[in-house]
Amino acid sequence: MSENHTAETSTAKDPTGSPTSPAPRPERTLPPSPSRSPHPSPRDRRAEPMFPGGPLADPAGSHHERRIRSFRPRRGRVTLGQGEALRRLWGQWGLDIDGLSRIDLGELFGDPDLPVVLEIGFGMGEATAQMAAADPGTGILAADVHTPGQGNLLALAERKNLSNIRVANGDAIILLREMLEPASLAGLRVYFPDPWPKKRHHKRRLIQPEFIALAATRLRPGALLHCATDWEPYAEQMLEVLTADPHFENAQPDGGYSPRPDFRPLTKFEGQGLEKGHVVHDLIFRRSET
Ligand SMILES: C[S@@+](CC[C@H](N)C(=O)[O-])C[C@H]1O[C@@H](n2cnc3c(N)ncnc32)[C@H](O)[C@@H]1O
Repeated sequence: MSENHTAETSTAKDPTGSPTSPAPRPERTLPPSPSRSPHPSPRDRRAEPMFPGGPLADPAGSHHERRIRSFRPRRGRVTLGQGEALRRLWGQWGLDIDGLSRIDLGELFGDPDLPVVLEIGFGMGEATAQMAAADPGTGILAADVHTPGQGNLLALAERKNLSNIRVANGDAIILLREMLEPASLAGLRVYFPDPWPKKRHHKRRLIQPEFIALAATRLRPGALLHCATDWEPYAEQMLEVLTADPHFENAQPDGGYSPRPDFRPLTKFEGQGLEKGHVVHDLIFRRSET
């Protein structure tokens, strides 16, 4: 369990950690991960993989960077099958979000022409695997901090022979900010992000102006940003934030929520929300040309 992920201090400003200038940074901006030290302290050992060769516990050394997190670390209850998949497949299909280098997406997916979409927060990955199977012509870079889900998605990808999935471990904000090239993404999917319903936690919500401004820099013109939520107040916040950003146009001509598109499968969290009687909203915005 990497409690250091939860670091939240009075100096933290917003989830992106870069409120006014999400511009690309060519040089390393995070200190080296303590896991790379030849003599890690007991504290630094939290960064070590739980499974040999598997995802690092704290790939970006996040206790070095004080910032509000949009997630709670969830490393527990990894099944034997998930652990086995993490050990065996991480080296091939996994990526630690360490914030130390830029990624060439063509190289990562072994195809320079493959359009790649980023999915933030895939949970257990069932919907991700379904979307990858239905659309082999699109690469899905699936990011989450949830270790059991990472193992589950790797196992699903292998079982279903899905070569168009890569699993990224860590904070997707660091992935966007430090590791992805400008205009490199063909899409961004954020399905049922943690709603953080308590007022004092609203600052932890992912969809905020600073995050959307950062996302705009990494999406290519015409790319779709697709969000879905079953939490009405968060849906309203999403609509307001996305509508206000000049880099996006609502794909829905009336400027409201979009009908659920056929390509989005029912997700696990969505199912739980529907059982509680929640109403689900999809929001689809297009990255404008300018
Ligand atoms: C409520 S769950 C939804 C999971 C899945 N999309 C579904 O609908 O079943 C939200 C997920 O987003 C992940 N998450 C939240 N913020 C994240 C971030 N900044 N980077 C990566 N994953 C994040 C959480 O770990 C969690 O697994």
